[in-house]
Amino acid sequence: MTHVLVTGGAGFIGTHVVATLREAGHRVTVVDAGHPGAHRGPLPDTVAGAPVIRLDLRDRPAVADVLADVDAVVHQAAMVGLGVDLDDLPEYVGCNDLGTAVLLAGMARAGVHRLVLASSMVVYGEGAYTCPEHGAVSAAPRIVADLAAGRFEPACPVCGTEVRPGLIAEDAPLDPRSVYAATKVAQEHLTAAWARQTGGCVVALRYHNVYGPGMPRDTPYSGVAAIFRSALEAGRAPRVFEDGGQRRDFVHVRDVAAANLAALDATGTNTGWRAYNIASGRPATVGQMAAELARAAGGPAPVVTGEFRLGDVRHVVASPSRAGTELGFRATVDLADGIAEFAYAPLRG
Ligand code: UD1
Repeated sequence: MTHVLVTGGAGFIGTHVVATLREAGHRVTVVDAGHPGAHRGPLPDTVAGAPVIRLDLRDRPAVADVLADVDAVVHQAAMVGLGVDLDDLPEYVGCNDLGTAVLLAGMARAGVHRLVLASSMVVYGEGAYTCPEHGAVSAAPRIVADLAAGRFEPACPVCGTEVRPGLIAEDAPLDPRSVYAATKVAQEHLTAAWARQTGGCVVALRYHNVYGPGMPRDTPYSGVAAIFRSALEAGRAPRVFEDGGQRRDFVHVRDVAAANLAALDATGTNTGWRAYNIASGRPATVGQMAAELARAAGGPAPVVTGEFRLGDVRHVVASPSRAGTELGFRATVDLADGIAEFAYAPLRG
């Protein structure tokens, strides 16, 4: 039996990860800071029978204590989302990067060599694109004038022609476009340096758009699925930005939990650092997702508003094939089934 420390184990994704690890027979200890961005109420005493310790990862002595008899760490704790404004910046870096640095130093000192890192597809920035003239190109950030004129598709950086989206693979260059994305890239680099220096193993899981039961309600830090679900619960139509044609891969939280279990197993036999897209492999547009959710919830049909947010990217969809081949992970929850459940599933907060 492996003793696994799950950071952020009382949060939305962490709770599902803990339940899956426990079902697989692992001993689990949860640490969670109870950050107000993710938790409105008090932390529970246990998650799926695992004890919960309130702890901020920046607290070195407390981190050293909890690592004392641990075999592996599954690191989910992070501040997510676009945030409110740049006043958030020190807290993002503090929680996500300083917190990770303290954790890694503690693991090295305690001789803990196995780490699963919750990373994100935000490390890529825009997805993969092909220009009919110039082949594979990386799309430049979209400019306000184009967005305001309803030109949402990115253009080729060489000739300005509209580009075609494709699947992004793990070896694509990293191009973070928000503070949160920059902190996730830093986590990847810090953990890679740690693996090289300690001889340990890190499996970094680049989550696509996770949804499912227990998602936090609508906050400035929420992803689009939670925002649409909260609107419908309040009897309001989901507001779909741009023209609704932006593509994402919505992956169910139980599939993400299964990916964490597979990644934990891989850290037992591998060394070094490796990243994996954790996606369903069945992308949808944001407009389609909104329509499906509204239908399932019996709520008002979505409104396509043409609004845009500067930090947003247009299409990010990925091939999950590396995770399939190397981790044996395949998403099993069909989007229609997942959305039908999500339409009535409890939210947190
Ligand atoms: C999201 C999360 C990111 C997470 C990633 C992968 C945010 C801001 N981003 O990135 O933290 O790592 O998934 O899991 O939480 N939209 C609407 N209506 C709304 C809100 C958003 O149409 O009310 C649109 C946006 O314009 C965007 C798309 O939905 O085109 C997705 O938005 P969102 O979920 O916020 O951001 P992602 O870039 O997908």
